[in-house]
Amino acid sequence: MSSYIIGKIDIDNDKLKKDLQIHDNFPKIAEEYDEFGTGFWQNCSLWNATDNKNDTMYRDYDHAAQQTEYGKKLTYVDELLKNNFKFDNLKMVRTRNLIDGMVIPHKDFVELNKPKQQYFRVFVPLEDNELAFHSDEESVFKMRKGEVWFLDAAIIHAAVNFFNNSRIFLCLDYVFPGDYSPEDIFANKSNYNPELSPFIVSRQDVEADFEESVIKSLSKIISQHTFKDIVFMLSKLHFYKNLPITTCYDMLVSIAEASQDEAVYEKAIALRKYLIEKRDLRERFSLAQWPTPLKA
Ligand SMILES: [Fe+2]
Repeated sequence: MSSYIIGKIDIDNDKLKKDLQIHDNFPKIAEEYDEFGTGFWQNCSLWNATDNKNDTMYRDYDHAAQQTEYGKKLTYVDELLKNNFKFDNLKMVRTRNLIDGMVIPHKDFVELNKPKQQYFRVFVPLEDNELAFHSDEESVFKMRKGEVWFLDAAIIHAAVNFFNNSRIFLCLDYVFPGDYSPEDIFANKSNYNPELSPFIVSRQDVEADFEESVIKSLSKIISQHTFKDIVFMLSKLHFYKNLPITTCYDMLVSIAEASQDEAVYEKAIALRKYLIEKRDLRERFSLAQWPTPLKA
């Protein structure tokens, strides 16, 4: 299933403004998957497993979510959450910001144990931003302020903000033990409305030889020096060109293969596996480390 709008909530701009000013002072800390983002990418935990504001990793646990210091400081966001959403089965609430940057295509939950359909991730934009988009295996879309979205993080997805305006979203993670309906997350059922039309981005079609010509040309410059740049550049293409989201990794592997650089090829295969196929909990992948490090 791809992502879709499940409803809408009202947001008081004046009250929100005060919280966003407080949020501006929350520091950026190192996070688990930082390496796969560019620009300013920040996750602040408002509710989580431990009540520790620096605990940002989503994982399974079997008790009620705890409110962190950040969650308590954002008093209007706290009111929004409590007035609009149920806390039963809610395991984590984070704010997410992405400025002038991107989170490259990946699947979440691949390292977790429960059946994927039990995980229900919800996004609520607190700010509108004309140049911030999300994507999944079906389309590229823009989430607008107040919309409540189901984000299918179990399929391949990505996010981008092409500009340097802030883009703060709320991310709510539910885990349901059995059957459920998306409307179960709402405190007030009247906010549930799966009929709302999403903003889908129309993208440029590509010429028939597009992939072939990109593979041929980039195979001449891919190396340990440029690998990371090429990963991010290829990941950006599908946001404005009509290409499937997985094309970036398939092209990367073909580019690496055509380069005849064994280390680059191995890295490309391993990166694709880690991000969209299989990884273990706490397993890390480094874009920067190579079997034979670069020397001056
Ligand atoms: Fe994700």
